[in-house]
Amino acid sequence: MQNIAQLHHRLFNWWHDAGRVLPWREKEMGSTAGNATLASPLSLRDRAFQSYMAMELRRDPYRVVVAEMMLQQTQVDRVLPKYLDWMAKWPQIGDLAKAELSEVLIFWQGLGYNRRARFLWLLAKEISQKNNGIWPQTEEELLELPGIGRYTARAILSFAFGQHTAVVDTNVKRVLRRVIDGKEAAEQPTYSEREWFVFADQILPPEQADPWNQLVMDLGALVCTARGPQCEKCPVKEQCAAQQKADQLGFSTYREFLLSLPKAAKNSAKPKTRFEDTDRFFRGRIMDTLRQAATTRQQLWQVMQDEYGLADQVRFETLLTKLAAEGLIQLSEEIVQLG
Ligand code: ADE
Repeated sequence: MQNIAQLHHRLFNWWHDAGRVLPWREKEMGSTAGNATLASPLSLRDRAFQSYMAMELRRDPYRVVVAEMMLQQTQVDRVLPKYLDWMAKWPQIGDLAKAELSEVLIFWQGLGYNRRARFLWLLAKEISQKNNGIWPQTEEELLELPGIGRYTARAILSFAFGQHTAVVDTNVKRVLRRVIDGKEAAEQPTYSEREWFVFADQILPPEQADPWNQLVMDLGALVCTARGPQCEKCPVKEQCAAQQKADQLGFSTYREFLLSLPKAAKNSAKPKTRFEDTDRFFRGRIMDTLRQAATTRQQLWQVMQDEYGLADQVRFETLLTKLAAEGLIQLSEEIVQLG
């Protein structure tokens, strides 16, 4: 294994120059942003990074969880305006707890995977109304809350409470796998989820889990991307195990090696279903139609046929039943409306 301390050092140096300033990373910036440039020789960016590194500063777990839920299946660019609008509308968890679910679902339009909106709303109710606004601070207790998996639990512990724990998603796995053992995240031997967390915890820098977790995400988003990594820009290419593998095989970069591989067989063998024929597409259109207004089943079925080409009424009814079971819509004999 590489010199981990050197890896940390190089990556933190890179992150100071190249890392992303994002609103959900804000710590103390909110109150001081207005006069920062006049009062201090440091730029806003420097001040932001100074606060990111300051482990004694905390974030509101509510802000962390809203961002992480939004980011689970949606790109940063699309999340950014929605996150800011959300925080303007429901700045505190108690504000969200008082909202109607239908209002939250209407707000969620454009982000997809509507269950996340309902989970956030349920979570707000649970924390504000049952827990008196107090967040649990252990992984196991957080896992009991609506919509919280290990990834989100660890993000809350690390980003909001400064705990020494690694956050692991697909992007993080890819980066760690490449840099540390030269493989793609999907390659053998596969780690179980639990093994991934143990592995990622082992390479955390002392006392700096929070900025490290953010840094690894940035490396995965900006440099060590899935299909076209920008190895020439990588701050740790001299140490990267995947780059060493490429060197041995005579490629100038790991990127060149990746691009030389034949496309995965599954992509070519299986005919692709058009997105417009998937359940996900039709679910989204049902939710969008109901965001405009409640309607009758008959009218909704008509819209789905005429505007979106759904032809199978049994499929339509099954979609409605599932959405109702997930608490996203309410069904009566006649009327369909948001949850
Ligand atoms: N993707 C998931 N969580 C993220 C975060 N906190 N910052 C940037 N991208 C992310």
